[in-house]
Amino acid sequence: MTKKIPHRLYLTEDQMPKQWYNLRADMKEQHDPMINPATGKPAKAEDLYPVFCEELAKQELDNTTRYFDIPQEVLDIYKIYRPSPLCRAFNLEKALDTPAKIYYKFEGNNTSGSHKLNSAVAQAYYAKQQGLKGVTTETGAGQWGTALSEACSYFGLDLEVYMVKVSFTQKPFRKSIMETFGGNVFASPSDRTEAGRKILAEDPDNSGSLGCAISEAVERAVTSDGYRYVLGSVLNQVLLHQSIIGLEAEQAMAVLDEYPDIVIGCAGGGSNLGGLIAPFMRDKITGKKDPRIVAVEPASCPSFTRGVYKYDFCDTGKITPMAKMYTLGCTFKPSANHAGGLRYHGMSPILSKLYHDKYMEAVAVEQTKVFDAAVQFAKLETILPAPESAHAIRCAIDEAVKCRETGEEKTILFGLTGTGYFDMTAYAAYNEGKMADHIPTDEELRPAIEAIPTIPGIQE
Ligand SMILES: Cc1ncc(COP(=O)(O)O)c(C=O)c1O
Repeated sequence: MTKKIPHRLYLTEDQMPKQWYNLRADMKEQHDPMINPATGKPAKAEDLYPVFCEELAKQELDNTTRYFDIPQEVLDIYKIYRPSPLCRAFNLEKALDTPAKIYYKFEGNNTSGSHKLNSAVAQAYYAKQQGLKGVTTETGAGQWGTALSEACSYFGLDLEVYMVKVSFTQKPFRKSIMETFGGNVFASPSDRTEAGRKILAEDPDNSGSLGCAISEAVERAVTSDGYRYVLGSVLNQVLLHQSIIGLEAEQAMAVLDEYPDIVIGCAGGGSNLGGLIAPFMRDKITGKKDPRIVAVEPASCPSFTRGVYKYDFCDTGKITPMAKMYTLGCTFKPSANHAGGLRYHGMSPILSKLYHDKYMEAVAVEQTKVFDAAVQFAKLETILPAPESAHAIRCAIDEAVKCRETGEEKTILFGLTGTGYFDMTAYAAYNEGKMADHIPTDEELRPAIEAIPTIPGIQE
C-alpha cells in the first residue's frame, strides 16, 4: 500500500536530533587549512581564540569527530521552534504538471524568519559559557543579525551588529527587530572602526559589502575586552550547527519512505546548503546513495560558477584568517541593484572542496527569474519566500519542468530557508517592473580576482 503523504510532516520533539553531524569526518579529503596571515602558516586553535569563542574555534578545526552532542540549553531553545516541517509542494507540482515529487524543508517558522537561528543559538550559548560580555557580527539582509539578536537576548549577551549599508537603508524594519531584542545596529561602513573609516575616506558613498561589515565586526571584537566575533555562515562550525536541517529532513523523508534524487539549496556563504545536504552528501561520499546536489547562486555574485579556487581573506579589510575557497576576491562588491541576498564574495571551504572534487554542481540564476519563481511559489504554497530561498525554488521548478519533459518521476528536495516579509522593497520593485538583472562582465570581475593576495610558498 502506498503511504498517504501529508502536506506538512512535523517530527515530534522527541524525534529531534540530539547531535550535530560533522560531514568532514566522512570526507575523503579535507579542504586546505585556514592560514594565519601573520605567520603564513596553518591557523591553530590558539590563533583563533582572540577572534572566536574557544569551543567554536575547536569545532572549526575538528575534522574527525563525527557527531557533537547538542548542549541541553541549546536543545531547550531549539524545541521552541523545531523540528521544522518537511512540506510537499502538491500545488506547485500540479501547476507545473510535473511527475516530479517536490519536497521542501521550511526553516522560516521562527521569529527571526530563517535557518540562521540554528547557529545563532549555538554560538551565543558557547559565548555565554565562556563568560563573555558580548559578541559582534555583521549582517547582510538582516536575517543573521535578527537571529543573533534573539539568541543573545535568550542568553543575556550584549551584541553589536554591522549591517551592510544598502540593506540598512532598504530594510529599516530589520533594524527595529534587532533593537527590539536588544541588538545595537550600525550601518557599515561606519566611522566606529579603522576599517570602516578607511573605506569611507576612499569612497564616502560606499554602499557596503559583507566583506567590509565582517572587517568592522572582527576589529571591534579583537579591540574590546570580553567580546568575540561570531559569523553566520561560511565557517565549518556554522555548517555543523546547520546539519540539524539535513538530519531532520533525512529522518522525515524516511518516515515517508522517500529519498531525494536531487537536493537543492541556495548558496550565499553555504551554511543552509551545507546543513541540508550533510547526510545526503555523506551517503554520496560513502557510496550508499547517489543523489545530485545542486547549489544555486545569484548571477550577480557568482562565486562557485565564475570565481577561482584560491586562498582569500574572508573580509574586505583583510584582517581575518585566509581560507581556501571559491571566491570572487575579497574586494568584490556586487551591484547595488542586486536585491536578492547571497552577496558574499567567497564560499564555505567545505562546500568549495566538495564542488572542486565534483561531488556537487552549481548554477547561477538571474534575480528577475528568481522573483518569478518566488511569486509563483507564494501564490500556490502560501509562504512568501525570502529572496535568498527563492533561488532554490527557481532551480527546483526548473528541475521539475525537465521531469515533465522527460517523464521522470524524480524526488526533489529543496531548502526553503526563510520568509521574505522584510524584503518588500525588492518585491515592490519586481511587482512594478522596476527590477533589473546585472550579470557582471569578465572585465568587471577581473580586478577583484586579480587582487587576491599571494602567500609565499603557498599561493603565488
Ligand atoms: C533566508 C536566507 N537564506 C539563505 C541565506 C544564505 O546564507 P547561507 O548560504 O549561509 O545559507 C541567507 C543569508 O543571509 C538568508 O537570510
